[in-house]
Amino acid sequence: MEGLELAQANLAKKGYLDMEVDPTLDLIAEIKRLKVEKNAILLAHYYQESEIQDIADYVGDSLGLAQMAASTEADIIVFAGVHFMAETAKMLNPSKKVLLPDLKAGCSLADSCPAPLFKKFKEKYPEHVVVSYINCTAALKTMTDVCCTSTNAQQIIESIPADKSIIFAPDKNLGAYLQKTTGRDMVLWQGACMVHEMFSREKIIKLKIQHPNAKVIAHPECEEPILALADHIGSTSSLLRYSQENEATEFIVVTEAGIIHQMEKNSPDKTFYPAPSTDDTCACNECPYMRLNTLEKLYLCMKHELPEVTLSEQVIKDGRGCIDRMLEISAKAGL
Ligand code: 13P
Ligand code: SF4
Repeated sequence: MEGLELAQANLAKKGYLDMEVDPTLDLIAEIKRLKVEKNAILLAHYYQESEIQDIADYVGDSLGLAQMAASTEADIIVFAGVHFMAETAKMLNPSKKVLLPDLKAGCSLADSCPAPLFKKFKEKYPEHVVVSYINCTAALKTMTDVCCTSTNAQQIIESIPADKSIIFAPDKNLGAYLQKTTGRDMVLWQGACMVHEMFSREKIIKLKIQHPNAKVIAHPECEEPILALADHIGSTSSLLRYSQENEATEFIVVTEAGIIHQMEKNSPDKTFYPAPSTDDTCACNECPYMRLNTLEKLYLCMKHELPEVTLSEQVIKDGRGCIDRMLEISAKAGL
């Protein structure tokens, strides 16, 4: 059994997965109390449900969350996000306890690049520098020279000597976007995010016809024909900033719909339309992994200090360098 499955099976054996929460509890008050009692910091990604975002100590994009995880003095880091984010926090803080409310909160993009297959791929390009999007497993990070997020990807690529070719993994869409914006010689791993690949170009065009003054803002994990429609392309924090600073009052938001909560909070007089997906029958613009976290699971996680994200010393030793390099380059670039 793989490490993660084993950890999940152990939780099931302890009866943890069947635990119920007293419906009369004020979960928000309890979570706030537990944060203080345990000197815990609650970090939340913009794709979390609104209630979780509102009680977090910090809400941000992948880079901001990694930076907060690197600098926190809390004893416990509670990650309201997905597994690769909690793993990154653990690599940066091997002595601290890192908790994830649901161990099944994975990532289709990270899953699209299994480390053994990537190892074989990498062997074909021994002279290439490996840049991995932070949305990848800890095992992949052990084979990576430098990590990036969508906020700093441009600066990370530009920090690599111009005569060096690059392997970019795992996101083919972000990779193709970076190839175009930097003009660099890159080979791309063919992975993708299931949420960002589901947006419908035709339906976005129809929505734009209904709201001609709306700006289309898109995440670079989307495919090129979708990005071609965008007035602005960027990470979640970049899309948020653009929606605040741009004079437009309507925006079509082509990324996971959770970010709209912060957009509405920061610009209450503006209107945000979640971009439609190809499938009308599902809430495909909500990440099924991010949305596994709930207030109930968060409360249980903080109360019992479970599930804990752990990594072997070897993985931490081999995988941390690419995150440290990313943080150094980001700091130099003022990000
Ligand atoms: P950012 O918030 O860094 O743009 O990442 C988006 C994402 O898909 C996280 O899983
Ligand atoms: Fe992974 Fe996509 Fe979900 Fe982000 S939105 S966690 S990239 S599946």
